[in-house]
This record gives sequence, structure tokens and C-alpha cells, in this order.
Amino acid sequence: MTQPLFRRIGTIKTVEGFLDYLDEVGIDLPCDRTVESGADSPLGQPIKSGSLRMGNRFAIHPMEGWDGTPEGKPSDKTVRRWQRFGRSGAKLIWGGEAVAVTHDGRANPDQLLINPENQSSLSRLRDELIRAHHEQMGSSDDLVIGLQLTHSGRFARPNRKDRLEPQIVYRHPILDRKFGIDSDDVVLSDDDIRRLIDRFRESARIAAELGFQFVDIKHCHGYLGHEFLGAFTRPGPFGGSFENRTRFLREIVEGIRADLPQLEIGVRLSAFDMPPFRPDPNRSDGRKLGPGIPESYETCLPYRYGFGVDVDDPLKPNLTEVVRFLRLLRDLDITLVNLTAGSPYYNPHIQRPAVYPPSDGYQPPEDPLFGVAGQIAVVRELKQQFPDLLIVGTAYSYLQEYLPNVAQAAVRRGWVDVVGLGRMVLSYPELPLDVMAGRPLRSKLVCRTFSDCTTAPRNGMISGCFPLDDYYKKGPEGAKLRTIKAGG
Ligand SMILES: Cc1cc2nc3c(=O)[nH]c(=O)nc-3n(C[C@H](O)[C@H](O)[C@H](O)COP(=O)(O)O)c2cc1C
Repeated sequence: MTQPLFRRIGTIKTVEGFLDYLDEVGIDLPCDRTVESGADSPLGQPIKSGSLRMGNRFAIHPMEGWDGTPEGKPSDKTVRRWQRFGRSGAKLIWGGEAVAVTHDGRANPDQLLINPENQSSLSRLRDELIRAHHEQMGSSDDLVIGLQLTHSGRFARPNRKDRLEPQIVYRHPILDRKFGIDSDDVVLSDDDIRRLIDRFRESARIAAELGFQFVDIKHCHGYLGHEFLGAFTRPGPFGGSFENRTRFLREIVEGIRADLPQLEIGVRLSAFDMPPFRPDPNRSDGRKLGPGIPESYETCLPYRYGFGVDVDDPLKPNLTEVVRFLRLLRDLDITLVNLTAGSPYYNPHIQRPAVYPPSDGYQPPEDPLFGVAGQIAVVRELKQQFPDLLIVGTAYSYLQEYLPNVAQAAVRRGWVDVVGLGRMVLSYPELPLDVMAGRPLRSKLVCRTFSDCTTAPRNGMISGCFPLDDYYKKGPEGAKLRTIKAGG
């Protein structure tokens, strides 16, 4: 079985070596030779969006842990994760984690759920994050915290971790086959959708009461909001034209604005997508997944089953409608945008580039740095057209030692406003703080993208950094995951 050849980042010992490697493989990434520290450094600058002011250019992306209670309240593990987000020193907490607006819309039976019964425990989560941040930084005045509101749509598993109970916007020829959908019964009716819009509105009211400064109306990763944007083939008021496919968002925003004119709104968007991928069967064996190849999409051309995709060559992004969508956000007075790509369920190599695949994934089809560069390039292009939006960028964790160099270069050149951190903060929450203080990175904490944080929940377990965080590594779940990975 041949594997694509690429260098592990950990084996590149200097920034010069990293720059040479980028040159060698022809990857276009901005990268500064030295990283500045302190309040005057590019990453230390404050930034404003609407009524919000953030003290630096680091954000923590939303990351759930599959570790809430059956009622959708946070557990001690959830609280610990949020405390670590607070301790990071990042001044923008983008959403905390995906919180479902209805039980049916939960991605797993342990996902947090926002409703009046869970209000006080969600409030504690926010309080604990602020307390941890305050302890670390001495002030939380310039800290901004939002809550990510979601419905998992096609990927809902509200009652059992091993049973999808999808609620979809339109029939998708490849995803339906891949995830066993064979009937129109699971397509949401227009009335179902109107009820969900009300739930988002009500959830935003609760979030505002809890003190969250903004809500993220999630439109990424194949979940419900994102699916609307690609619903070209759905008839009726929520599909077909751009206007119809964005009606879900517009009506949620109208409702929130009517109730809560002061609450800021953000949108996390998969700015491009691709058809689903699978391991190449000719290069897989019983022990190892093959490199990813696209599922056959040739019979689905023109490809009208995704957002930000070129209909004639769906392996390429097409940003025409994405630009239109960002213009719409601006018209709706939404200036907080977090850009990501694809979905963890069907094309993880563009969504969270990694050297080791999750158990339901495939070996990287290319150097994961291409995945990183792809997101950075799209964000750059969109930022150039929307200087007035505050844009958070994604997919920096794979950069490992060179994350600060690339982050600083991207911010300094105005390619992105705020750099979001995902997997890296699960292993190394204090990375932003170390960078701001001019301390060298602690290499033993650097995320090496083993994907255990995805493999564990794919096998019915909680998430966390199993390779590097002793809390998970040494706990019973760590032993269980090692057994699963060893084929037990
Ligand atoms: C364990 C885990 C949980 C995640 N949960 C969420 C989530 O709740 N909401 C969301 O929008 N993205 C979620 N993501 C995606 C991350 O926010 C981020 O987009 C992704 O990890 C890529 O960024 P990175 O390269 O810094 O890790 C999750 C990712 C991981 C690894």
C-alpha cells in the first residue's frame, strides 16, 4: 500500500526549515520568521465588532466533548473544558460548544441542550470560564463570549449514540446512500422548519439572559443551517433560490432582532465544501484505512448538493454565493463571522487537517498543509472583499510549532482578523498566553493531530485529548480507547 509522502511537522526543527519545506512542496502559506509578543504585537492588538471589543487576536473555536448529562446539562468534564478555554488567554470564545436548540436536534445523547430547565447550569459554565480567565489574566473586561446554537439535522443522534435519527432539508444522492437514508419521511416539512426557527429565537433569548454577548447561528459542517444553503433541489419557501435557501437564517435573525435588539449575532460558516470522501478500497487493508478519494459524483453533475462548490467540478470551491451570503450578513447587520470548511463526517481532510485519520475517516489524500492553506486562502479572498466584517479563521492546529508564525503573518497582512484555535487548545490551552508572553512553545503539549478527539466519540465515548492530557490519557476512557484502537 503506497502512502502519500510528506514530512511530519514535528521533524522540521526550525522556521527556516519550515519555509524551505513550504517552498519545496509548493504550498503558499504566510509565515513570519519571528513571533512578536506583548500588547503591541500583531496578535496582541485589540479589535472591535459592533458593540464588542476583544483584547487580542486569538479565539477559541467551539468544541464539544460528548460529555453532557442526558438532560443536556454540563458535566464536570464540560466545566473543566470551558475553564481551560478561559485560561487560554484568548479574548474571543466563539460559542463554547455546539448547544442544541431541541432534543431531536442533538448530535448525540450527551450534547448540551438549551432550555429553561438547563438555564442555571449553562450559566455556571459561562461563570466558570470567566472566573478562570480572570484568575489567569487579571481582567475579563475585554473578553467576549458567545454561545453556538445548533440543530444537527442530517447528523442528529438524540437518543442513541449508534443510531442516526436524521432530519434533513433535501435528499442528497451521495450522503443519503452513505448514511442509510432511503425515504422522504425524514425530510423536514416547512411547518417543522418554522417551529425550529421559533426554537432558535427562544434559545437566543435564554442565551442573552445568561449574559452571552452573542449567539452563533451555526451554518457549518453539514448540520442543519449549513444544509439549507445547499438546498438547491428542495421545492417551496426554504429551497431553490438563494433567497429561499437563506430564509431560515433571515427569519431567525428577524426574530432575535425583534426580541433582543442589543444581542450581537455571529455566523460560523463552512465557506466551501466538497463531495464526500472515503478510503480508497484498493489501498486499504484490514488494519489500515487507505487514502481518501471522493465518492463517485460523476452521475450527480452538475453538482447541486453543496454550498460554495463549483457545480461542474465539485472538488473546487466556488465563492460566488459565499460572497453573496457575506453580503447578506452585512445587510442583516451581522459583522461577526467564523469561516470553516466542509464537514467532519464526510470530508474531514478539508475540515480539520490531520496526519492520522479518525476511525471513520481515511488517510490524508495530500499533505495536510494543503488543507490548512486552502482555508487560509479562502479566508484571505473573502476578507479582502469584506474589510468591515470581523473574520475568524480556522484550521491552524495542524501547523503545530509554526502555528504562531503563520497566525501572526496572516493577521499582520490583514488576511484574517482573529485566529481561531480548535484541537490545539484541547492539548495546550495556554498556547495563546505563551505566545503573548514571548515564551517558547511547550512542545510536549503541541497537538500532533492523532484524531483521538474524534475517534473516541465515533466509538460512543467522550472526547478530549487522549494522547497528551493526563486527565483523559490516565482515566478509564483512555484505557478503553487504546483497546478499541488496538482492535479490541
Ligand atoms: C473534539 C472536537 C469537537 C468539536 N466541536 C465543534 C462544535 O461543537 N462546533 C463547531 O462549530 N465545531 C466543532 N469542532 C470543529 C472545531 O471547532 C474546528 O473547526 C476544527 O477542529 C478545526 O480547527 P483546528 O485545526 O484548530 O482543530 C470540533 C472539533 C473537535 C476536534
